[in-house]
Amino acid sequence: MSDPHHTADHDAHAAPSPSGLKKIAALLVLLGLPLVVVGSLVGCNKTQTGGQIASDMSEEAVAGRIQKVGRFQLGEASREPKTGEQVYQAQCTTCHAAGLVGAPKFGDAAAWAPRLATGYEALLNSALKGKGNMAAQGGGAFADFEVGRAVAYMANAAGAQFEEPEAPDAEAPDAAAAEAK
Ligand code: HEC
Repeated sequence: MSDPHHTADHDAHAAPSPSGLKKIAALLVLLGLPLVVVGSLVGCNKTQTGGQIASDMSEEAVAGRIQKVGRFQLGEASREPKTGEQVYQAQCTTCHAAGLVGAPKFGDAAAWAPRLATGYEALLNSALKGKGNMAAQGGGAFADFEVGRAVAYMANAAGAQFEEPEAPDAEAPDAAAAEAK
């Protein structure tokens, strides 16, 4: 009783008295209760036994949960294709809204007419590679089809009737790879 170690190997040669056992039990409850409370808070949306709570708080399990969140966010960022209007607002307004540095102004049919006459592919090519005072992609970093959408959006505002290109099918990596070539 004077030495109430509670590891098994010590108990073997110094078996504690009943009152000593009570103290140990009380100690275990005091130590264990907060763990169970924390454990049930962490896993509050699942029904778990004590053993599962302990394993769910392991480094591996925690890392797994963090990874899931991280992956979800990455997926969101890389899979949310922008519309032509969004790309235009984000990148192209700088010059095209007011017609800066010789850019054909948004909605100015007269300024766009000779350019529209060259066709969508030629306009897309200029937007992707740059032309005159315009850098490649207008200085942006979009997927090619997103720039295509912005070209269609701007051209249509000036009287063209281009269709905004579809996003490459996420479930067909072959199509996406072909698009990138
Ligand atoms: C830094 C200013 C600037 C930004 C930003 C910019 N452009 Fe331009 N853009 C120009 C200028 C200048 C021209 C005229 C180039 C010329 O004909 O010499 C032009 C011309 C164009 C043309 C006509 C090309 C042709 O072949 O006649 C298209 C299409 C176009 N821009 C699309 C875009 C798109 C899409 C964006 C946004 C992703 C964008 N631009 C962003 C300055 C800009």
